[in-house]
This record gives sequence, C-alpha cells and structure tokens, in this order.
Amino acid sequence: MYEHDEKPMVDDQLISNASQSLNSLAKALSKTGDAETAERLFLQAADLELSSPGLQNCWGGPFNGQKGRQTLVADLLHILNPAAVVETGTFRGITTKWLAENYSGPVLTCEKETLYYLQAKTRLDPLDNVNLHFEDSRVFLREIVQKFPVRAILMFYLDAHWELDLPLKEELQIIFASHRNAVVLIDDFRVPDDCRYGWDNYGPGKSLDLTLLDGAIPSDSRIFFPSMRATEETGAVRGCCVIACDAAAKVTKSKFLRGDSLKEWTRWAAEPQACAEKKNCTDDEQRHLNEEHDLAQKNEAPAYDLERRLQEAQDLAAKNEAWARDVERRLQEARDLAAKNEAWARDMEGRLQEAQGLNLEQSVVGRIAQRLREACSLWR
Ligand SMILES: C[S@@+](CC[C@H](N)C(=O)[O-])C[C@H]1O[C@@H](n2cnc3c(N)ncnc32)[C@H](O)[C@@H]1O
Repeated sequence: MYEHDEKPMVDDQLISNASQSLNSLAKALSKTGDAETAERLFLQAADLELSSPGLQNCWGGPFNGQKGRQTLVADLLHILNPAAVVETGTFRGITTKWLAENYSGPVLTCEKETLYYLQAKTRLDPLDNVNLHFEDSRVFLREIVQKFPVRAILMFYLDAHWELDLPLKEELQIIFASHRNAVVLIDDFRVPDDCRYGWDNYGPGKSLDLTLLDGAIPSDSRIFFPSMRATEETGAVRGCCVIACDAAAKVTKSKFLRGDSLKEWTRWAAEPQACAEKKNCTDDEQRHLNEEHDLAQKNEAPAYDLERRLQEAQDLAAKNEAWARDVERRLQEARDLAAKNEAWARDMEGRLQEAQGLNLEQSVVGRIAQRLREACSLWR
C-alpha cells in the first residue's frame, strides 16, 4: 500500500536503458533478417519510452524548451507565411507538434531511427497537417524540394544532427541548389558573439559554426543570429542561425534576429576587438566580447575531446557486446556437449548391466566395467 497518491517512481534512466537494449537487439535481429521479431521489439521499446513523461519532455518542450526560440519561429512564420515548413530530425515529434499547432500549412518532417519514428508517429497521428517520413534527411529533402515551385517560400528547420555522420552541409546544398527563396533555421549552431548559447561539435570540420557554411550556401546569403542574449533564454539554451538568400529582406523584418554577410560574421568571430571598434562598443561591451571569445576557444577543445572519448566508449561497448555474445555461444556449446555425454554415460551403464546379464566370466565383466568407468570419468 502507498500512502495518499504516492506511486512508486520508475527511474527514467532505467526506462531509457531498457528501451535502448531492446532497440539494439531489434537492430541486430533486423540485420539477421528476423524482421517480425525486430518490429515487435522496436514497438515495445517505443511504448516504453512513450510511458515515461520524463523522457517525452527531455529537453523541456518544443525547441529545446526555449521560449525565446519559440517567439522567434512564431514571428518568422508570421512574416514569411511559407508554403510549407520542413523539419529534419523529428526525434519524438515534440517540436513538430508545436509547428503543426502554430502554423496551419503542411509540416513535413523526417526521422531515420525506427525507435523515434514510432514515438513521433503516435504523437503526430492526430495532426492532419503533419507528414512524417521514415528516411534519411538527404533523401527526404531531395524529394521535398521537387514537390514545390522553385520560387515558393519554404521554411526549413534543420535538426538532424547528433552523430558523426553530419548531413548538414549536404542538406544546405540540396535546399539552395533549387530554392533560393528558402529560409533555413539550424539548431545547435554557434552564435559567434554569444558563446553562452550551446552548439554541437562533432570534431574537426564538424563543428556547427560559420566555417561549416563555407561553400554550402549561396555566396550572397545573409546569416542571422538571435537578438536575445543567451542569459535571457530559457530551456537548454542552444544557439541557432537563420540563413536566407532571396528572402533575406523579409527575414530582416524580424526584430528577433540580427543579420550580416558570412564574411562579416566570420571577421567578427575571428577578431572580436576590431569588430567592437567598428560597432562603437563601450569598454564594458568590448570586455564582454573578449571574454566570450576566450570562453569559446576554451570550450572548443574539451567539447571535441569529450566527443572523441564518447566514440571510444561506444566502440568498446560494441566490442564487449560481440564478445559477450561469443561467450554465450560457447557456453551453449559446452552445455550441449555435457548433455550429450550424460546420455552416452547412461547408455554405457545400460550396456554394462546387459553384459552382467549375459553371465560372462566375472573377470571379463570386471574388465568391461573398468573400461566403462574410465570412459565415463573422462567425459563427466
Ligand atoms: C536533436 S534530435 C531532433 C530533435 C527534434 N527536432 C526536436 O526538436 O524535438 C536529432 C534527431 O535527428 C535524427 N537524425 C540524425 N541523423 C539523421 C538523418 N541523417 N536523417 C534523419 N534523421 C536523422 C536522430 O535520430 C534524432 O532523432
């Protein structure tokens, strides 16, 4: 009996561990061709995660629980009135649901992991304007851009990143190759003059910052960053950037964004002092800028190091898993052998009794018995 309404708590971490184990098993089974069992396990893993309010609200809500970001996106939707909103990286569909409820046009989204696709499907099924795809973001974007006229204003939310395979550059190239009117918002992007906003870094050449945009977007694009300082943002406080080419004049209307060319922002990131002079910063603002810059440099190395260590740990875990499976197989072989030997020993025992029943000379029976005992002791 529990007092009042008190219920036993099931730890979110425990649920997450269990669902991840089921997920790994399901993936392994689908590789061996047992699609039916794999599907059952994927569904069970998804159901487990859906049963945990903690996991379903892991980043505090839509757009990583960031109220400032929600206001910014609502404003952009109002200004742009896009023909569609396109998200890559649905995850559990939390931001997708917000988009579908705050914008009446079509919301197209894609997820490549079965475990998350199934959870998003459950969450998004009741929403008529959502179109959820189960595929890689690059394949998905190539299909989507073909469906809309080249002059259509499309708004993209690129969030399919958390692994070493970073599709971001290709995603940008696919979009802008045909749709110069596109407006693209990238999550987890480094804000060059406010490094209290977090950003993703997957190693050399894979940090979500200005260097990644070089060659991936049209040269006349404008890059916008949030006007809101990180210290005023809520939730996970992840950085973002907005990229626009032919639609830049429209984006400039948003008071929640500050825009400049890639070249200017790059200069700003490299030489905060010179830029502060140009922008007539006060001494205090300039000191703040320098601190930001130093902090950013310091954060970069450990972030990459952590990423590398995580990868090593994951590799080791995968190796151990294979090793554990091998031990399990050998143990089973040993058990099978033991069972076989036991049957064989029983058979020998039976034959000995038969030999005794044949009234052979005692010395012959004795010799046979001795041999059988020796043989049995060898196997037991
Ligand atoms: C950071 S989460 C997305 C969060 C989600 N947009 C939200 O706001 O709640 C990243 C998701 O992208 C997915 N993902 C990673 N690479 C992908 C790819 N190449 N194509 C499609 N999805 C991908 C991951 O499986 C994961 O679910």
